[in-house]
Amino acid sequence: MKIGIDKMSFFTSDLYLPMEDLAKARNEDPNKYLIGIGQSKQAVIRNSQDSVTLAANAALKIVDDNEKEKIDLILFGTESGVDNSKSGAIYLQSLLGINSSASGVELKQACFGLTAGIQMAMGHIALHPESRVLLVGSDIARYGIGTLGEKTQGGGAVAIIMSANPHLLEIGTQSAHLTKDIMDFWRPLNRSEALVDGKYSSAEFINFFKETFENYLEKTGEEIDKFTALIFHLPYTKMGLKALRSVIEDLDNDDLKESLLEHFEESRYLNREVGNLYTGSLYLSLLSLLHARNLKAGDQIGLFSYGSGAEGEFYSAKVVEGYEKYVTDEEIAFLDQRTSVSVAEYEQIYRSFMRPQTADYRTEFENDPAPFVLKGQQQQQRIYEKVN
Ligand code: HMG
Repeated sequence: MKIGIDKMSFFTSDLYLPMEDLAKARNEDPNKYLIGIGQSKQAVIRNSQDSVTLAANAALKIVDDNEKEKIDLILFGTESGVDNSKSGAIYLQSLLGINSSASGVELKQACFGLTAGIQMAMGHIALHPESRVLLVGSDIARYGIGTLGEKTQGGGAVAIIMSANPHLLEIGTQSAHLTKDIMDFWRPLNRSEALVDGKYSSAEFINFFKETFENYLEKTGEEIDKFTALIFHLPYTKMGLKALRSVIEDLDNDDLKESLLEHFEESRYLNREVGNLYTGSLYLSLLSLLHARNLKAGDQIGLFSYGSGAEGEFYSAKVVEGYEKYVTDEEIAFLDQRTSVSVAEYEQIYRSFMRPQTADYRTEFENDPAPFVLKGQQQQQRIYEKVN
């Protein structure tokens, strides 16, 4: 039985910060951000959005009435959870009106959470072929104003429906994993901003990629030329380029090198526009690649997922005949209609985020054009509503 990705969608804020402006405000050469980091814009998430509303806004695009009845499992990947106990999946189920027989959980392992969900969904669908699984990767990447990580901030959510006989991608059953207890990036319970050893994390990313890629090739007996595209978790898009270069630099086959680089450029287009999405990042890159419509049925894509702390996985997927019909330009057109904010406006929005607190709080949800918003908190309960 073929199992894989049937539908995908993406949501982020209606506001963005041009990276050139951020670089100038931090007394850096804009090319360091635009080329050295590989980011053009950074999503500025409003205080009326959190991982639940971002996920609901992404999933709304693919969860129609039929899906609401059929979905039987919701897997919510995030490292920006809104509660230490209750899972984001339950909020999502309720906001979208998904049938109450569906079960749901939240999955956490830094940026790896959604990939963990993909593998769980594979097993679940193998046992229950009629199943339709809703997965989301939803996060807000916050490092802090003026920090080294600031230029890699971002946020948003990717939603996926997995099923048997999918319309977009058939996921392979082989994969290679690597898990090591390291402190490259973490976020203690008292913090909303990540702590990170940036250079160390970037070096470990490459090590994890090379090791899992090599293990995958060894396990499957495949060579690199089996892949039409290699795509990556993209904390900043230059990171993926560095990882790709690490395995193509010694190749004799110039055509393959060129073609892998060309597909990589296609795969980083959307990520350049948004910044780090944490759990959703690899899948935004996948969406970006599919949107370029430069693949044909049967092409094999290699996917590298990395979650700090750290866990890495390399797996592959094959493009399904007719996938083009299921990726529409309208789906990502909203990115061109976003509003640019100044550095001062971004800093004001950043500081206005609700902190863990007992007092009631009201967000500026009236200004937010998103369908689902966080209105605030009353008696320590979050108030969500569909307003648009
Ligand atoms: P930095 O130290 O300010 O940057 O921050 P840099 O000095 O390393 O420069 C970056 C690049 O720009 C370099 O290129 C420079 O040469 C180049 P590279 O050597 O890397 O190829 N450069 C220029 N290029 C063109 N024109 C110029 C110019 N000037 C310099 N004028 C750092 C970089 C990544 C350390 C920082 O942004 C950071 O700490 N980010 C957060 C951590 C991170 O993203 N780590 C990535 C791997 S970990 C991961 O992926 C997991 C994660 O998503 C979390 C999770 O799993 O939950 C983060």
